[in-house]
Amino acid sequence: MAHRDPVGMTPPALVKEAMGAFNLLREYFEGAIMVDSQAHITWLDGRYRRLLKMADDFEPLGLPVEDILPNSQLRKVVETGRPNLLDIMKIGDRQLVVCRIPLKDEEGSVQGAIGFVFYDNVDYLQPILKKVETLQKQLSRAQAALSRERQTKYSLSNFVGVSEVVTELKSQIRRFALRDGPALILGETGTGKELLAHAIHQASDRAEGPFVAVNMAAIPEALLESEFFGVSPGAYTGAEKKPRPGKFELAHGGTLFLDEIGDMPLSIQAKFLRVLQEGEIEALGSNALKKIDVRIIAATSQDLETLMEARTFRADLYYRIAVLTINVPPLRDRIGDIAMICERLLEDIPRAQDMRGWIIEPEAIALLSRYDWPGNVRELRNVLERAAAIAPGEVLDETVIAKAMPRRKPRLLGSASEAELDDLAHARARAEREAILDALRRADGSRTRAAQLLGVSRSQFYEKLKRYDLSN
Ligand SMILES: Nc1ncnc2c1ncn2[C@@H]1O[C@H](COP(=O)(O)OP(=O)(O)OP(=O)(O)O)[C@@H](O)[C@H]1O
Ligand SMILES: [Mg+2]
Repeated sequence: MAHRDPVGMTPPALVKEAMGAFNLLREYFEGAIMVDSQAHITWLDGRYRRLLKMADDFEPLGLPVEDILPNSQLRKVVETGRPNLLDIMKIGDRQLVVCRIPLKDEEGSVQGAIGFVFYDNVDYLQPILKKVETLQKQLSRAQAALSRERQTKYSLSNFVGVSEVVTELKSQIRRFALRDGPALILGETGTGKELLAHAIHQASDRAEGPFVAVNMAAIPEALLESEFFGVSPGAYTGAEKKPRPGKFELAHGGTLFLDEIGDMPLSIQAKFLRVLQEGEIEALGSNALKKIDVRIIAATSQDLETLMEARTFRADLYYRIAVLTINVPPLRDRIGDIAMICERLLEDIPRAQDMRGWIIEPEAIALLSRYDWPGNVRELRNVLERAAAIAPGEVLDETVIAKAMPRRKPRLLGSASEAELDDLAHARARAEREAILDALRRADGSRTRAAQLLGVSRSQFYEKLKRYDLSN
């Protein structure tokens, strides 16, 4: 047989020496194994054979050690020449204590290794074994919880709602998940675009692959290129010594989520488009091309058509990514779901030890339902958090909610007054302008803080200031 190769045979003198040690210690251990410099088995003691439940006519000599002990570290000992004096190895369902020693010739070059398996009932080893066992149990519990968490946190069921628009949205998401083309998620700020991007990935064939997100608004233009395409060692002065893969490469086999795509600088757009067309990337400073397989999901709260007119967004890129388009309705268009959404959001708000859970009263829900929510679900969450912080107990009633709501006249949905009979867009713009002024007042003029109060990003806030002529 080809793999039973005698080339690496351990010199007889060394074997003899090892056997001497073996005989001296034999009553303290349960089995022993010897390998040559290729980590092929050269000897296996009878007790180890029984421990491994080996058939009598099976001949292990000459086989790579991993063939009979998949977890064996003897190859590493041979390769590094360093002993492994105390380790724990799992054989079947038993944890065994093992000790591995390299066999060196007179010149000090490694000719093989010997491994001993000790009884696992040795008293002094019990505490260590127990500890390892406990830690391993804890680890596997934590891992299971983590994967459950991942599964549930980002699946479609976490987008709460049963209204007609949401039911339609969910079935569209399920259909799009099964196709592999690029998807574009549009919707006002805080409507749940990111949640839905995760949900598409989770429901797609790529669910086992990576989900990599890049937020265009959060990364400075100068860094975006290396963020996407990676850095090869010494690509530019001061570049890291080690190559750093770009997000494109990291997302290989999975999904690349481009958040706030409307903020993607023009310089990157061209390069990006080329990658999408060619399906290959070139790492910074190198000329090697790499095939990549990623699904693009993009999201934005900006109006891409306006950006195209203003020539800050390339039309060819737009048509490339807007293959499957999803419009997430604003919260005010699914206000019937607000009670359910509140229940879900309240689950995440910490409460005192002795409380069983937040209770929100129907009158409070009614009040929330009359507001038009420019910051959508995120703004709703902020209001509930504020309410929870000021509530004397676990009950959130109308009074508490009223105090937590933005201090402007709610734009009364469903009970429009004469003044509000002009078209909806004007009414909304006026409400938004007022909300911004109110937030600025409450934030003592700090724009960062005001943006936080409204639950919008700084760049969105600045854009709105410009739109409503409030920049000064
Ligand atoms: N239908 C929903 N049910 C439960 N939670 C939701 C729902 N929609 C949004 N959320 C929650 O609201 C918050 C905002 O959602 P998300 O970040 O996905 O919005 P977004 O559209 O990406 O906002 P932005 O445009 O500001 O980035 C998140 O905490 C999300 O979990
Ligand atoms: Mg987002």
